[in-house]
Amino acid sequence: MDLDERINQVLSQCEQTLKSISSHQDLEDIKVQFLGRKGLIRDLFSQLSQLSDSEKKHYGESINKLKMEIESKISQKGESIQSKIQTSPENQVFDYSLPGFPYSIGKKHPFTLICEELYQIFRSMNFMVVEDREIEDEYHNFDALNIPKWHPSRKLNDTFFLTDGSVLRTHTSPVEIRTMEKISPPIRMVTIGGRCYRRDASDATHSAVFHQIEGLVVDENINFCHLSEILSEMMRGVFGKPVEIRFVPSYFPFVEPGAETLISCPFCKGDGCSVCKNSGWIELGGSGMTHPQVLRNVNIDPTKYQGFAFGWGVERLAMIKYGIDDIRLFFENNLSFLEQF
Ligand code: DAH
Repeated sequence: MDLDERINQVLSQCEQTLKSISSHQDLEDIKVQFLGRKGLIRDLFSQLSQLSDSEKKHYGESINKLKMEIESKISQKGESIQSKIQTSPENQVFDYSLPGFPYSIGKKHPFTLICEELYQIFRSMNFMVVEDREIEDEYHNFDALNIPKWHPSRKLNDTFFLTDGSVLRTHTSPVEIRTMEKISPPIRMVTIGGRCYRRDASDATHSAVFHQIEGLVVDENINFCHLSEILSEMMRGVFGKPVEIRFVPSYFPFVEPGAETLISCPFCKGDGCSVCKNSGWIELGGSGMTHPQVLRNVNIDPTKYQGFAFGWGVERLAMIKYGIDDIRLFFENNLSFLEQF
């Protein structure tokens, strides 16, 4: 065998052997076998003495190249053995005494839950869902709604006025006006969870910031029965069972007749419990037939069209549905409260 062939043979022998090993100890053995004092490379160099000067130069270079190649292959193999050892599971350093990382799954806020439910209920009845501004002018918040200039709700101690004379809306009823200004009857609209502001001191049932759901239907031949039916359907959706609706006459300047609206207690079926304070009925908010003057204010002819409307507190509804006894919990972001839903 000539020296060229032998050089190639040594290289492929080295490659083969490297493939078959996986420990540092085996690698050490290979180092000795190829690069050691009695190793194969040394052996090749020793054969040079029998050659002519020009052959010595040629083969000397080839063997040196072979030696460098083998050295680099061995060191690469060393690195790959090391990285395999480090990443193998049994060699991962893991401190089992460390506290774990519980990934708690986020939950929807009860306010969001009830708004989403209301959205589904009203979309299924083909209501258009709208939103409007929280900073209102006095005209839309009061005048257009037929609220007289002397009405106590206009007082500084009930309403937040901004320096330019506009107000933080005190209810979502101005959304009725804004909608009727934009579109003509027939109208079926609802605004869900609209933020409102009042200068109320906060306690378990009052908050200066709260949210309302406001609905309005304007069409020909609309009467109180339509209002009653829509509210029944809304309550059936929220409580998952039929509840009775009861109207108690009340005064709101933008409806005539107007009513405080109550539902039969969905928890005790009228027998009396803590939610309905033993009365069997729960008060939810205002409703009524849109006042003819309000329709005139938005250029709708009250001799042709009638409307009904309602405006209820969304937190109040959620409190009853979920048994929450303090409205402030909605705004505190207390995790142990939020995790219950
Ligand atoms: N806007 C009234 C309030 O916040 C509630 C209300 C009463 C809304 C009667 C209505 C209604 O649409 O018909 O006090």
